Amino acid sequence: MSLLILDTDPGVDDALALLYLRARNQQKWPDLKLLAITTVFGNADVETTTRNALWLRARLGLSAPVYRGAAEPLTRPRGLSPKHVHGENGLGDLDLSGAPLSPAGSGAAHERIIDLVRARPREITIVAIGPLTNLALALRAAPDVAGLVAGVTIMGGAFAAGNVTPFAEANIHNDPEAAAEVLAAPWPVTLVPLDATMSCVLTNAKAGELAQQGEAGRFAHDITRGYAKAYERLDGCVLHDVAALVSLTRPELFETRVAPVSVATSGERLGQTAWGEDGPAVSVRLRADGAALARHFRETVA
Ligand code: BDR
Ligand code: CA
Repeated sequence: MSLLILDTDPGVDDALALLYLRARNQQKWPDLKLLAITTVFGNADVETTTRNALWLRARLGLSAPVYRGAAEPLTRPRGLSPKHVHGENGLGDLDLSGAPLSPAGSGAAHERIIDLVRARPREITIVAIGPLTNLALALRAAPDVAGLVAGVTIMGGAFAAGNVTPFAEANIHNDPEAAAEVLAAPWPVTLVPLDATMSCVLTNAKAGELAQQGEAGRFAHDITRGYAKAYERLDGCVLHDVAALVSLTRPELFETRVAPVSVATSGERLGQTAWGEDGPAVSVRLRADGAALARHFRETVA
């Protein structure tokens, strides 16, 4: 059983990651336990991603508290929200009306990350599926956390081709300085880049089948309809953030290379990840069996 903090910018595929987590925390597969959800800007501003996290918590019946995190990158202004991918409300323009939401927990996300990790030394894995600002702030405020986590798993990076520029992936490009600090820190990092995630597709046909298979399947179908349009050429949508969690539960679905990784923090390659000369070794999930991963996702949530 892995104890997790999910650092997230919901986000449609972030919502699918929470749906997957919920299933992996049930009696049938008690392998992931969510301790806290920490939010960050990214797919929308942080007010919106925090509201979305609170909405998902209520909608999915999760008990983990939500803590609001960084509104801005470490050193540069925040970029525009990708409304063409995640909708005006960040959750595929799903209707978010309904029961009133409980408030976010007190304290900043990076402070709560520090407290949780110090309280359970070497037990907690941080799974980061948004920009890495909260993780960098935690390291700056408490460098000891690097030695106290069980691991850090990150959806981010691109070695072959980016998605927001020809070179860079969105989570790294949104705060390249934070990513550089996180990848240079002495903690055990697993990186799940686009090179692996782009093959992990929930096809429209399979989403249609899921919609007939109960509450969770209908939710996965409904929330991905707008997002799938942004991935029209794939006839489906990419399970980026789900892949980060599956790299914990089904590591055999990935090919992994272990080497230092650098991040470009200036120039036209801003946010690009590349093999580094020195620094801590990172486990990079370079390729995935995307068909098996997508099937595993559907079977788990259905
Ligand atoms: C990543 O960026 C966000 O848009 C997604 O939620 C995912 O975390 C993919 O590049
Ligand atoms: Ca995300």
